[in-house]
Amino acid sequence: MIEVFRCLICGETYLGEKKPSNCPFCGAHTQYLIKAKLYKDVFKIKLGAVSRNNLKKTLKLEMNSAEFYLCAAKAAKNVELYSMFKRLAKVEYEHAEVACKYMKRKVPALKYKKKKCFTQDLKNLKDAYLQEDRAIGFYRQFAKQAKEPNIKRLFTALIEIETDHLKFLSKKMKR
Ligand SMILES: [Fe+2]
Ligand SMILES: [Fe+2]
Repeated sequence: MIEVFRCLICGETYLGEKKPSNCPFCGAHTQYLIKAKLYKDVFKIKLGAVSRNNLKKTLKLEMNSAEFYLCAAKAAKNVELYSMFKRLAKVEYEHAEVACKYMKRKVPALKYKKKKCFTQDLKNLKDAYLQEDRAIGFYRQFAKQAKEPNIKRLFTALIEIETDHLKFLSKKMKR
């Protein structure tokens, strides 16, 4: 029997027989997916000035990384890397969207920009690793600073998600 689940991080809906290991949209771990009937709008909160500013920085970081991955996908020399970069672009764009939902602003369009990445796959993998690592550093700080429980949860989940990306990327670099 198919059931309806919702993600406490991105708010997206998932239809399936059971919960997936990760949200297919934002990558949040399975514990953030709950039955839809128990879901309450996570974005309906009052933001303090510190979190608002940190979400603004998050939007910038995530848009940058989404554009980078989109570029890396177009540059990829094989279908596996293409598929991986393309999905990572969508996941990072989802994170940008989440920041916008909390800030109640329109999501910028994701556009392909040629100069956002290198032409060699290995260089892109290495750069991706550095970008993810940098984002994790910021999110650790943002999670600590957040007074709003939903924002603390968001940054905690983002640290986990970007750490998954980091591990995955380092495995790909070794091959
Ligand atoms: Fe999600
Ligand atoms: Fe992200």
